[in-house]
Amino acid sequence: MKIRFFFLQAIIILSINNSLLATDITEQGKSIFKTRCATCHKIGSVFTGPDLTDVDKRRSVDWIIHFVQSSQTVIKNGNKDATALFEKFNKIQMPDHPDLKEADIKNIVEYIKEESINIAKNTAPFKTPFISQPDYKPVTSHNYVFITAYLMLVMLLVWVLYFAVHINTIKINKDDTLANIILEDAKAA
Ligand code: HEC
Repeated sequence: MKIRFFFLQAIIILSINNSLLATDITEQGKSIFKTRCATCHKIGSVFTGPDLTDVDKRRSVDWIIHFVQSSQTVIKNGNKDATALFEKFNKIQMPDHPDLKEADIKNIVEYIKEESINIAKNTAPFKTPFISQPDYKPVTSHNYVFITAYLMLVMLLVWVLYFAVHINTIKINKDDTLANIILEDAKAA
């Protein structure tokens, strides 16, 4: 029982960390995107470069990593998709980003994914009512202060419930051991 309980606690703590980690990743991706990509790319419309909405659905992550690090290398290697895109965008060369590591580019892709989902929500044929309420803040992983507080409360409740259920067992065990100690002491004496 105790082991199961600690597992439960571990899962709760891990899930808090995970939700914080997920926001960290998209936040990192967002900041790189804003400084390095937004001059040419938008998520939701074509700009100097293609609209990056759902780019992860039409290209593999590996393709994106290679293309972002050096698009011309991918084109020169004869990749058909890359060549077609280059032609379509009037042979505008996307600058190389050799300093961006795989992890950085993966973070950008995570940010693009999240933004693509947000766009899909906002342009759904029947807008969900909450979108037109300006002050309404839906609960997302961004509200981590709220989520952490909520999970803490749940953890506290679980603790309280655990003790409420087991208080008798704990008492009995304690009496048992105390009684045994006294008995053993008495025997020893
Ligand atoms: C100077 C403008 C410019 C900048 C800055 C730029 N791009 Fe591009 N990007 C382009 C153009 C133009 C294309 C179309 C392909 C071509 O012409 O080579 C493109 C294509 C792409 C594609 C392929 C899109 C598809 O539909 O397959 C991806 C992915 C991409 N860019 C990601 C990025 C990321 C990530 C950054 C920032 C790290 C970035 N780009 C910065 C101009 C730019």
